[in-house]
Amino acid sequence: TTRVLTGITPSGTPHLGNYVGAIRPAIAASAASDIESFFFLADLHSLIKAQEPERTQRSTLEIAASWLACGLDPDKVWFYRQSDIPETTELMWFLTVIASKGILNRAHAYKAAVDKNREEQLDEDAGISAGLFMYPVLMAADILIFKANKVPVGRDQIQHIEMARDFAQRFNHVYGKEYFPLPEVVIDEQVATLAGLDGRKMSKSYHNTIPLFAPRAELKKLVFSILTDSRAPGEPKSTEGSALFQMYQAFASPAQTAAFAQAFADGISWGDAKQQLFERIDAELTPLRERYDALMAEPEKIEALLRRRGQQLREQYAIPLLKELRHAVGLRDLS
Ligand code: TYM
Repeated sequence: TTRVLTGITPSGTPHLGNYVGAIRPAIAASAASDIESFFFLADLHSLIKAQEPERTQRSTLEIAASWLACGLDPDKVWFYRQSDIPETTELMWFLTVIASKGILNRAHAYKAAVDKNREEQLDEDAGISAGLFMYPVLMAADILIFKANKVPVGRDQIQHIEMARDFAQRFNHVYGKEYFPLPEVVIDEQVATLAGLDGRKMSKSYHNTIPLFAPRAELKKLVFSILTDSRAPGEPKSTEGSALFQMYQAFASPAQTAAFAQAFADGISWGDAKQQLFERIDAELTPLRERYDALMAEPEKIEALLRRRGQQLREQYAIPLLKELRHAVGLRDLS
């Protein structure tokens, strides 16, 4: 069987980009019978961005409820919290000592922070934590601890998966055995990067997101605020580079998308196009939103589920693997 693994950082509520780029494809793929799926809440990663205990807890719960509401079956797939598997951070250290610093210097998130400091004529590492710098190593540990073969992610994560491959390869080489398979990145070409309200990639850091479970009225308001060009009703509209069209496509069947493209060519007004988009998204999300609200009313059930699955994963995979790895690197056995 192939092991498929992906994580989501619980910072704030999930948005449509997370849904289209990660949650929906991951759940769809997990239905196949010959794969073992691992979906987790990267709460250790979230500490890098925000050191606010209540927010971390709240957000972890929200993201968990989101995946469950989107149809994840917690008895069929492994669904867990990163911090419930402490072996991950031990593995992170084993990877840290073999990871090259030069590769980490080139990580997009770190480089972007450095570039921003340079632009503002600050010291280049000003305000950048070692946690941000080490982010890719923790992510590699997430992937390797369960020997994942495939990692479905959005485009922004490709470099991280490549690094995980690099660290796995080095580890295997240094300690002389195929301890880890090399993880492969999986990108859904159609929808890998969903645009946000302003046409840039939908991202919390751009403040251009549509929350996945926004109440209907808010969803509608946000859809109507999507940036368009100024072509008048009756004028043909271009689907090329249109955030509105791309979002429609992400929520529609090929036939519906073709009809929408035709409406663009026929000069549909932006108001009508937005109304159609709103209805399409709302039709897909309404049942999910209802399940989400029900789940959030019973947080202790989610908590119990995460604990149970985390414990099982440790016993079945993480603890035995770390026993083997401690031996491999020359450390004493704990048991
Ligand atoms: P995060 O929480 O930033 O995003 C979760 C997933 O959503 C994808 N994504 C998008 N896809 C399409 N369009 C967008 N606008 C968009 N925005 C986000 C991301 O690519 C990602 O797949 N570091 C990871 C979490 C993580 C992880 C891992 C993932 C930690 N360990 C191990 C895979 C394997 C992150 O912060 O994703």
